Amino acid sequence: MTRTVLVTGGTSGIGRAIARMFAAERAKVFITGRHADTVGSAAEESGVHGVVCDATDPDQVASLADRVGQLDVLVNAAGGLAPAVPGGAAPLEALLAQWQANLAQNLLTAVLTTAALQDRFVRGGSVISIGSIGAERRGGSYGAAKAALAAWNAGLSAELAPGGVTCNVISAGYVEGTNFFAGGLSDERHRALVEETHDKRPGTADDIAQTACFLASPGARHITGQTIHVNGGAFTTR
Ligand SMILES: NC(=O)c1ccc[n+]([C@@H]2O[C@H](COP(=O)([O-])OP(=O)(O)OC[C@H]3O[C@@H](n4cnc5c(N)ncnc54)[C@H](OP(=O)(O)O)[C@@H]3O)[C@@H](O)[C@H]2O)c1
Repeated sequence: MTRTVLVTGGTSGIGRAIARMFAAERAKVFITGRHADTVGSAAEESGVHGVVCDATDPDQVASLADRVGQLDVLVNAAGGLAPAVPGGAAPLEALLAQWQANLAQNLLTAVLTTAALQDRFVRGGSVISIGSIGAERRGGSYGAAKAALAAWNAGLSAELAPGGVTCNVISAGYVEGTNFFAGGLSDERHRALVEETHDKRPGTADDIAQTACFLASPGARHITGQTIHVNGGAFTTR
């Protein structure tokens, strides 16, 4: 049977790779992003359905849910580093704006989208949210938002797994080839991020997409409430 998959933030990088992998498995895939031009071109290139939706906006998210209908897999990939607050703001005002922006983009996007869709999951469904290694180290407001995403996921799993819906976070290490760093990553920083992995390579969007497809597969039905680290050993767990 054809599965229906929604990938928020599917216009580039990790979300786009995930959307393409599910589409290759013949799923009916919806992607979202905030801008009509990038949503349209990415949807066409990937052979999926595009919906313009800012996942921090409750009205837009509610309309998205009506458009998608019944759902097998939700991937909350929308996120990223919120832009720095322009100069001129008072220090505490700027700090507040920075934290609110990162919490909105990296936590509330997933919370709102999942809440709007959680009654539409079929039994055997999956919610997969993209976290970050930044939650484990000096990640500032971005890392704190991703840490909160993992904490929220644990409660979500307790709520949805009795109805047959698994809920997991994929905590990604450094992934190259996306718009995440917006061209702002120096060669030196790239080398340092690769050096701290055990396998001495950057992650790829497909590394994360493969994990997402596994978490939505029959072989992963007893995995829920977890944070799965995909980072080449840059952060290890016991
Ligand atoms: N790349 C890395 O090294 C890395 C590492 C760890 C975790 N991550 C996480 O992986 C996820 C994907 O990032 P990426 O590296 O693939 O970066 P990316 O290429 O910049 O992709 C981010 C996607 O999110 C969308 N987006 C951002 N805010 C949104 C919002 N409010 N509503 C809807 N869509 C929104 C963007 O589309 P529009 O801008 O068009 O809206 C874009 O499709 C993010 O959650 C990021 O935090 C990335």
